Amino acid sequence: MLSGNYKQSKNWLKLLSTLARADYCENRPWFILMAYKLSLTSLREEATALRTIHRLILGLCILTFGLMALGSLTRVMGAGLSCPDWPLCYGQIVPHMDQYIFLEWFHRQIATLVGLGTLLLVGLSWYTRPSLPRWIPWFSVLALALVLFQGVLGALTVTQYLRFDIVTAHLGTAMLYFGTLLAAAAALQPLSKGASKVSWLPQVAIGATVVCYGQIILGGLVASQWALNQCLAGSVLCNVMNNHLFGVVPATLAVLLVAFASWRQKGFRWAAFGLLGLLALQIGLGVTTFYLKLSVQGLTVAHLAVGAALFGSLIWLSVLSLRQRALGLSH
Ligand code: HEM
Repeated sequence: MLSGNYKQSKNWLKLLSTLARADYCENRPWFILMAYKLSLTSLREEATALRTIHRLILGLCILTFGLMALGSLTRVMGAGLSCPDWPLCYGQIVPHMDQYIFLEWFHRQIATLVGLGTLLLVGLSWYTRPSLPRWIPWFSVLALALVLFQGVLGALTVTQYLRFDIVTAHLGTAMLYFGTLLAAAAALQPLSKGASKVSWLPQVAIGATVVCYGQIILGGLVASQWALNQCLAGSVLCNVMNNHLFGVVPATLAVLLVAFASWRQKGFRWAAFGLLGLLALQIGLGVTTFYLKLSVQGLTVAHLAVGAALFGSLIWLSVLSLRQRALGLSH
């Protein structure tokens, strides 16, 4: 871990410079022992704090991914307004359930858990900040801002009766929050050993991330307006559907380019296989969803989940390749 290594060397420098004052240490071997022990303790504390934060971020990523899939299921089941009020459901913390109320209610419970997890992340990051890279506490504040904004959009989704622009913004912010967490998790991920020169992989990966995000928003606009059904039934909103279909071309080309760049990059071949697999799956799910006219809800949810996985993989790859390049340049 970049800053961990930096801090380790800083600690060792401090220790060595103290020990270098040999006249002081000459008759005090206990001093050397104490300084050594202190330095080890602080190293251990740093490693523990960093590991805890990294695990918390990864846990939040998994929870957010599940929450997005649950949100999609709530929408395709037509359960979005099953709790007509907010933040309670029929004025109760635990309402009388049917499957629709349960879906909407459960979505809110997991969202609350993500919110509380983010608060914990902020608290922990600021409390242990001397042991962490300087950017982590600020990143945690950004994550909290995004999750609070997401909560406001969630409330508006209900109070504005599933207005399509709010539903789309709700999806877009969820992806941004998910992407921010993933970027931080990738920044804390230990790199594979050995520096290698990284060519244009980071640029194309970042570009593809932006294109893929755009395609997700276009998909959100289709979903939030039920544009497929409306287009097939009465030729209404076909332009919204078509925008998403045309968007497949740049998204596919961008992902293919990243797969090619990863294939050529030492240590990144795994990403080429992963991206090609996710892209093929996503297109297959989209085409099936289209021809089955959303009749199989599981497929529509899977289309969202694989879209999120593709977006997340591109972010992961962008950050890892940027870090690998920085490592290569410093050698
Ligand atoms: C890289 C490629 C693609 C990405 C990243 C992507 C992403 C998305 C996303 C995020 C949604 C919103 C889902 C939701 O809110 O539940 C969506 C909706 C949709 N996508 Fe795609 N998509 C891609 C390709 C395709 C393709 C190739 C097709 C079909 C030919 C397609 C057809 C649809 C349809 C019909 C919807 C609306 C689903 C609904 O109303 O619930 N997509 N897409």
